[in-house]
Amino acid sequence: MRPYLKVNAWQIVEEGFDPQLNEVSESVFSIGNGYMGQRANFEEAYGGPSLQGSYMAGVYYPDKTRVGWWKNGYPEYFAKVLNSVNWIGIDVEVDGETLDLSTASAEDFVRTLDMREGTLSRSFTAVLPSGRKVRVESLRFVSVPFKEIGAIRYSVTPLGEPAQLKLTPYLDADVANKDSNYEEKFWDTVSQHAAVDHACVEVRTKKLDFRVASHMVYELAATGDPNQEFHVEAETHKRDKFAGLSLSLRAEADQTITLSKYVANVTSRDYEPEALGDTARQLANEALERGFDALLDGQREAWAEKWRDGDVAIEGDETAQQAIRFNIFQLHQTYTGEDDRLNIGPKGFTGEKYGGSTYWDTEAYCLPFYLSTADQNVARNLLIYRYKHLEKAKENAAKLGFAKGALYPMVTMNGEECHNEWEITFEEIHRNGAIAYAIHNYVEYTGDFAYLGEYGFEVLAELSRFWEERVNYSERRGAYLILGVTGPNEYENNVNNNWYTNRMAAWTLEYTLQVANKLKHEQPEAFAAVAERIGLKDEETSKWKDIAARMLLAEDPETGVFLQQDGFLDKDILPVAQLDPAHLPINQNWSWDRILRSCYIKQADVLQGLFFLGDRYDLETKRRNFDFYEPITVHESSLSPCVHAILASELGYTEKAYEMYLRTSRLDLDNYNNDTEDGCHTTSMAGTWMSVVHGFGGLRVLGGRLILNPFSPDSWTSLSFKVGFRGARLQVTVAGGRTTVRNEGPAAASLTLYGRELDLAAGDSVSGERDPHEGAPQAAEAGEAAE
Ligand code: BGC
Repeated sequence: MRPYLKVNAWQIVEEGFDPQLNEVSESVFSIGNGYMGQRANFEEAYGGPSLQGSYMAGVYYPDKTRVGWWKNGYPEYFAKVLNSVNWIGIDVEVDGETLDLSTASAEDFVRTLDMREGTLSRSFTAVLPSGRKVRVESLRFVSVPFKEIGAIRYSVTPLGEPAQLKLTPYLDADVANKDSNYEEKFWDTVSQHAAVDHACVEVRTKKLDFRVASHMVYELAATGDPNQEFHVEAETHKRDKFAGLSLSLRAEADQTITLSKYVANVTSRDYEPEALGDTARQLANEALERGFDALLDGQREAWAEKWRDGDVAIEGDETAQQAIRFNIFQLHQTYTGEDDRLNIGPKGFTGEKYGGSTYWDTEAYCLPFYLSTADQNVARNLLIYRYKHLEKAKENAAKLGFAKGALYPMVTMNGEECHNEWEITFEEIHRNGAIAYAIHNYVEYTGDFAYLGEYGFEVLAELSRFWEERVNYSERRGAYLILGVTGPNEYENNVNNNWYTNRMAAWTLEYTLQVANKLKHEQPEAFAAVAERIGLKDEETSKWKDIAARMLLAEDPETGVFLQQDGFLDKDILPVAQLDPAHLPINQNWSWDRILRSCYIKQADVLQGLFFLGDRYDLETKRRNFDFYEPITVHESSLSPCVHAILASELGYTEKAYEMYLRTSRLDLDNYNNDTEDGCHTTSMAGTWMSVVHGFGGLRVLGGRLILNPFSPDSWTSLSFKVGFRGARLQVTVAGGRTTVRNEGPAAASLTLYGRELDLAAGDSVSGERDPHEGAPQAAEAGEAAE
C-alpha cells in the first residue's frame, strides 16, 4: 500500500479522506489509556467500511471454541476482549439531512493523532448530498489522570446560510465483536435511561457477569452574540442497550455550535455491581465540572511526564522519528502498569485480532520497554500478573497429564489456556522459558531481589518441575531430550530438540538453582516458607542440576551452528534472497505442508536464545549462527526483525541492523504487512523500541551495571534516548560517533560505556566513542559460562 500519512515528528496526520483506507486509519489513530481504548471511528454516523471498536481492559468473554477436529486437551473457550459501549457517538442532522461521510463528500479532511498530548482530532468541510456545507471539528481523548473519562469536543458550523441542527450524543451497547466465533452478541441489558441533561446505559456479559456502566453528560456552546436567543429543544431516546438525546437548535450562517460530551465508563472489575450506575454518574459529573479545557490540560501534563521519562529523539530523519514515537505512544496507551490484573494484547486496544489476550510477547518483548521507561512497579505488575496465574498454570499442566509443575498458557486472559491448535497449545512450550527469563530480566535490571523470595522463586520452581517431567533421558544419545515441540519458529511443528526450547529449559533449571542458593543464604526465611508451601524436595533440585548439565544442545560439528532442531540440516537450505519474490510472504503463497518442509524460518528462534542469553556466548558464536540463520528467515512475524536488529547491531552489521529496524518501525504507519486494519502490532512496537535502545544503544544489564555501547545509523544526525535504571535517569545522546550520557538523577548509576566502567553521579555526564566495527565488549570475553 502506498504510504499516505504525513511525516511529522510528533503527529500522525492524514490529509484527505479515502474510505478504502479508513479501517487502517481507525487502527493507527486509536487512543487509549491502559484502562480503555477506542479505535478512531467517527463520532457522527458513517455507512462506509469501518470496524467500530471501544474496549475496556480486562472485560472479556469466553467465546465458545471453534475448531475443525477436536483434540483432548483443547480449551473449551477462547477469551476475547469485548467490543464495549460505543461512547463516542454523536449523530448530526443538518436541516433534516444526516451527516455521513459515506454519502457526503469531505473537503479539507484532516485527521491528526497528537502523540505529545494524547489527543485525536479531525476537521473537514462536508458537502451534503443536498449541496449544504458544514464545517466539522472534533477533538477527543481518553483521560490519563481520570482513567474512566472520555471527553469529546465536537463543533458544527453551517457555512454560508443558517441551518436547523440536530446533534444526538448517545451511548450504544448494542455492539458485537467482529471476531465472534458463532456471530453471537455478548451483552445483555441491565438498564438504560435518558433525560434532557444526561444518558446512561448499563450492560452485563452473557457469561461471567462482567458489567459496564456508561454515563454521559454534555455542554453546549455557540459562537457569536452572547445575548442571542438560543433555543434548544431536547428529545430523549431509549431502546434496548441504547440511550441518547437529541438537541435541536437553529444556528446562524457561519455560527459554530460546540457540543462537549463527557462520558464515564466504569466496570464491575473495579466497583460493586450495585454501585456502578451511581459511580459512573458521579465521575461524569465531576468531569463536567472540571470542564473540557482543564481535562485537556491534565492530559497534556500526563503525557509530558511519559515523554520526559522515555522519549527517543532522532535528528536527521523525521520518518524514523515519527515512527519510534508512534511505537512508544501506542505502548503507553496500552499498558500503564497500575493494575496487576491486566496485560498487553498483541494488538493493544486497536483491534480485535488475537482477542486482546496475553502471549509470551509480554515477557519476551514488552517487559524491557517498561523496565526502562516507567516506574519499576509497572514491570513488576507484569510479573505479578503471571504469579497470580500460577495455580492456573499448574492446572494447565495437569490437564495435559503432567503430575506436577506449571505450564503457562500460550494465549490467556485469566491464566487458562485459550489457544486451540495442537501444534501451539500443546507444543509451543518454550513460553515457559520466557516467563522465567522475565523474572531474571526484572531482577537484574531493578536489583529487586526481594521479589525472588516473595514471588519469583515459587514460579521458577514450578517451571522447573514442568521441565523435569517434560524431558526424557536418552541412553542412546547420552542426554536429556525434549521431543515433539514447536519452537518460536512456527513454520516447523512437532520437532525434536528445538535448540531454543532446550536451551531455555536448561537455563531455567540453572537459574532456579542459583536463585534457591541465593535465597538460602540471603533470605532463608522466605526460602523456607516457599519450600514448605510447595513441598520442595532435595531430590528434585539434584535432578534439575543433572538435567541442566546434560540437556541436549546440539551443534553442527562442521559449522559450529546450533541446530534449530534434530533434522534441520537435512533440509534444502536456500537463502530467502534466492526465492522468487512472488512467493513472499510464503504464508500467503505456499501450502502449509510446503512451509513445514522448507528451511524458512518465521521469526528468530536459535537467535532468540542467543539474544536472551547473550552474556553466555561470544561474538563468534553469535556471528556463526546469525550468518547461517538470518538469510533463511522470512520475518513473517512482526516480532522477528527486532531481535535480528539487536544482534546485527552487536555484531557490527550496522546496515543490516538498520534494514531490520526499518522493517519493524513503520510496520503500521506504512501498513507494511497489509493487515493494519485488524489493529496495530502493539507488542512488536516494544521490539522496535528494543532495536533502538538494545540494538543501536547496545543496552544490556550485567552484574548490576548498565552497559551501553551505542552507535547511530549513518543516515541520522543524532540519536538520543532516555532510560531509567535503579533510580537514575539517563539521557544518552549519540552524535558524530560520540556518545554522551547525562544522569538526570536522582540516584547514581553504575555504568559501562564502551567497555569503560564508571559510576555516574546524579547531574554528571560522561562521553565516549565506539569503533563502529567492534562488537559489544561484554560479549567478547564472556564465553559459554554454563556449558
Ligand atoms: C508469533 C508468536 C506471537 C503471536 C502474537 C505469532 O505470529 O509467531 O510468536 O506470540 O504471533 O503476537
